[in-house]
Amino acid sequence: MCGIVAATARREVSEILLEGLRRLEYRGYDSAGLALIDAERNLLLHKRLGKVAELEKAQAMTPHLGCVGIAHTRWATHGEPSAANAHPHISGNRIALVHNGIIENHEPLRAELRAAGYEFLSQTDTEVIVHLLHQQLAQGCEMLPALKQIIERIEGAYAIAAIDAENPDTVVAARSGSPLVIGVGIGENFLASDQLALRQVTDRFIFLDEGDVVAMTATGLHIENAAGDLVERPMQRVSEAVEAVDLGGFEHYMLKEIHEQPRALAATLGLGSEHHIDDARFGEGASAVFDKVRAVQVVACGTSYHAGLVARYWLEELCGIPCSVEVASEFRYRSRARREGTLLVTVSQSGETADTLAALRDQSEGEFIASLVIANVDHSSLVRESDLVFLTRAGTEIGVASTKAFTTQLVAFLMLAVVLGRRHGLSEVRERELVDALHQLPDCVASTLQLDADIKRLSEAFILKHHALFLGRGIQYPVAAEGALKLKEISYIHAEAYPAGELKHGPLALVDADMPVVAVAPGDELLEKLKSNLEEVRSRGGELFVFADRKAGLRDEPRVHVLNMPHCPAVIQPVTYTVALQLLSYHVAVQKGTDVDKPRNLAKSVTVE
Ligand code: AGP
Repeated sequence: MCGIVAATARREVSEILLEGLRRLEYRGYDSAGLALIDAERNLLLHKRLGKVAELEKAQAMTPHLGCVGIAHTRWATHGEPSAANAHPHISGNRIALVHNGIIENHEPLRAELRAAGYEFLSQTDTEVIVHLLHQQLAQGCEMLPALKQIIERIEGAYAIAAIDAENPDTVVAARSGSPLVIGVGIGENFLASDQLALRQVTDRFIFLDEGDVVAMTATGLHIENAAGDLVERPMQRVSEAVEAVDLGGFEHYMLKEIHEQPRALAATLGLGSEHHIDDARFGEGASAVFDKVRAVQVVACGTSYHAGLVARYWLEELCGIPCSVEVASEFRYRSRARREGTLLVTVSQSGETADTLAALRDQSEGEFIASLVIANVDHSSLVRESDLVFLTRAGTEIGVASTKAFTTQLVAFLMLAVVLGRRHGLSEVRERELVDALHQLPDCVASTLQLDADIKRLSEAFILKHHALFLGRGIQYPVAAEGALKLKEISYIHAEAYPAGELKHGPLALVDADMPVVAVAPGDELLEKLKSNLEEVRSRGGELFVFADRKAGLRDEPRVHVLNMPHCPAVIQPVTYTVALQLLSYHVAVQKGTDVDKPRNLAKSVTVE
């Protein structure tokens, strides 16, 4: 998704801007650009279709230098990916502006600006903002008041940063519905849509609130809130290591992140030798909220939604309380029946997903007793706006395909099921068994990772296929769904998941020798039923790839390939089987030669609707 970097300093900042863009590359984009104001107050611009490397080449050929600048990576929404549609957009050869988000009323504004004589050079919604800003500045307005005037007129979500060659020291910015953070330096200030872009220059950050507007020079910060009051936002030191930007010897970030899971899971568990999960892990005041919980509503998107689907099995089995799970883009737009005592749980790696955030914000008065977010990014919007927070400790996830974020979300949910279960009849003995199982999880995942070579061998059968089916029963059905999502995201093979029992109600018609069928079949009580579903596939010529507990006694047969999984406690099997399916997708994608870390058309963090 789009990324913003801006700087105002006493030193030359073009390389800082480029490095910031490189650090945001993982989020997905199709074009990039930068604008600087030079010592003679000229506005200098480079925009390129494609990777940041193309922008670097342009900068190497014709260096643009300046102490104030803005830069952007664009993920197309309005207008095709092209150099013309890339940001920054300029107006009157003096103002440059970058924008994340969508301006919903861009059409009437464009008509009005055209009538006023403005010429549009792009198909983007963003270009209206830069011309509106120019209109204000041309009338003699100061930069910040001008920005405040125009945000009164635009509808939609935005993070904006702008510079003006006639006010050459200042960057102005505004946020509403899209994140922005100020990086505080010594005699210099920076701005970005993600603090990761600025970790090269500072570890001191000010996270802007919804509705904030900012005027920033190298030595001064002026922040106003939505009501127009001058405010001081707290400065926070972000001390965690910037380890993630480095490939650490792996061929792809996705593979690195798959292999980081034992460590990420242990960090998320945060258990020493104790066998008790403290309510406080979910934030201050969690105990009082948990005492009142009678039902859970999970809302999320994509992989995080799948984590919720797994959690439903745990919450209903271990706590005996109803749990509903819904994708945020549906949840937010429908009328909902209330259930007394419901806890809203949002789940998000980034903490910035637009639909999930909207679902949290749009709840009606008294609909939920409280909100809990399970997120991987501290200071993100969902974290800042939820009552309770569980931070997964996956570390920065760079690969667009979510891996370690998902498995750490599962851990968070199992811990939630334990603390809620305690209030709904979960025995001490069972709690101890569950925590014991959690203690074993990092090692079980490490053993699963050792199957890498076997999984790679299985993956070869998928390379020339166009479709695949994933089957699972019970709690393994959402695991199969996550496996199918991974395969389609990074290998572009069409993959669908079904609860195994649904096969004969339709999808069986698809099964032939060209349809590989992946079955997630640990040795649980559903195995016998699953075996007959598998027979249905085999007898129609389908080729089966069965991920089964080595103690389940399944063996290779003609057209049946069995991957013997390590024997682990049943409750943590959704995590270990997920890891095996991640490796399967990874190897298929690598052999197909796709861009594993940045699959086409996808963005890491979906901050627009
Ligand atoms: C995961 O592989 C996907 N790229 C995607 O489905 C992702 O999980 C979804 O967009 C939600 O993101 P979030 O967890 O940051 O909210």
